[in-house]
Amino acid sequence: MDETPLSIGYIRRNLQRVRKWNPTRMLAGEQEGGVHRMDLNECPFPPSPRVVKAIQDAAIKVNRYPDGVCPEVSERLSAMTGVPADQICWGTGSSELVGNIAMISVSPGDGVVAPGPVWRRFANVFNVVDARVIRVANRADGSVDPYGLVDALDAGTKLLVAVSPNNPSGAMLSAEEITYLAENVPDDVLLYLDEAYFEFARFAGGPDGLKILQEKRRGPWVVTRTFSKAYAMAGMRLGYALTSSDVISNALRAVTSTFNVTALAEAAALAALDDVDYAREIQERTAAERARLVEGLRNLGLEPLPSVTNFVSAALPVPAAPVVEELKTRRIRIGAWGEEGFENFIRISLGLPEDTDAVLAALRDILKK
Ligand SMILES: Cc1ncc(COP(=O)(O)O)c(C=O)c1O
Repeated sequence: MDETPLSIGYIRRNLQRVRKWNPTRMLAGEQEGGVHRMDLNECPFPPSPRVVKAIQDAAIKVNRYPDGVCPEVSERLSAMTGVPADQICWGTGSSELVGNIAMISVSPGDGVVAPGPVWRRFANVFNVVDARVIRVANRADGSVDPYGLVDALDAGTKLLVAVSPNNPSGAMLSAEEITYLAENVPDDVLLYLDEAYFEFARFAGGPDGLKILQEKRRGPWVVTRTFSKAYAMAGMRLGYALTSSDVISNALRAVTSTFNVTALAEAAALAALDDVDYAREIQERTAAERARLVEGLRNLGLEPLPSVTNFVSAALPVPAAPVVEELKTRRIRIGAWGEEGFENFIRISLGLPEDTDAVLAALRDILKK
């Protein structure tokens, strides 16, 4: 039934604007294969065999609830990062934490300074908490503008969001730029750095944003990372937040549902962290495939944005949406940025060599027409 706004007064005012939720769906028959999936920034390789074994071993125990704070993997990450284990919070993917961070920081009408274009989930989250969003345009290479973000802060701002490397461009901030944020965002504003593509940035020689915040920031901060991308575990749904204090981690736990992370996910994460060689191989193969895709796009006359991640974006000479639809009919999935002012931009997640070949051949064909 198509309800009029008047009849949905029982829904919170800001959510009345959300008329149709658009979840990510698979194409018909997709799970059986035969589709080049290059739209979700997934890892095209399977998880480490050690991860698969850990999940199998843990499966027999799922009659029991897991430990509510992922103690073993929290301790492991604590040893790796220096963040105390009780200041690490877990999410059903880092997506869940994005929402939770907004929830603990922003009351209706409070200001959020955030970059754009940026991963579209942020817009939904800001809407849910009824934030007053101050959007700061990215720089020409698609990286977020740290100076613009700080300049945009006003007295009512509670949260400043930076994403590095950024999605949908793939460009990262330098160590100096993250330091600038660390030192110039006031102490009464929560500085949130989304590092979903952190491992790719490090492999490309980029900075460790967390370390910079630990060393340089006096005020509050939170960094999110994920097992979805570099550890090839998108389907396990596991992300984490590293926080500057237990004030933040306690607030995050208060808004997170109990047992939001499965026992399988924690076992998988430990095994993934153990298999350092496999993680390195993923990085090497990703970098090689990225170079091939970038070169292929250049050969089509396009100018891909600089990316250190597992995806590459470029502007087409024509609007992207119809091209994306046409590719779908050829069983190739890529993304369109779909943002005002960026209607011609596509984003292609890296796949296997045959995926790269397929998308380049299809684009050549479509753009010729
Ligand atoms: C910038 C950014 N942050 C967070 C996420 C969330 O990933 P996940 O929920 O799988 O951890 C994504 C996913 O694409 C992303 O691009």
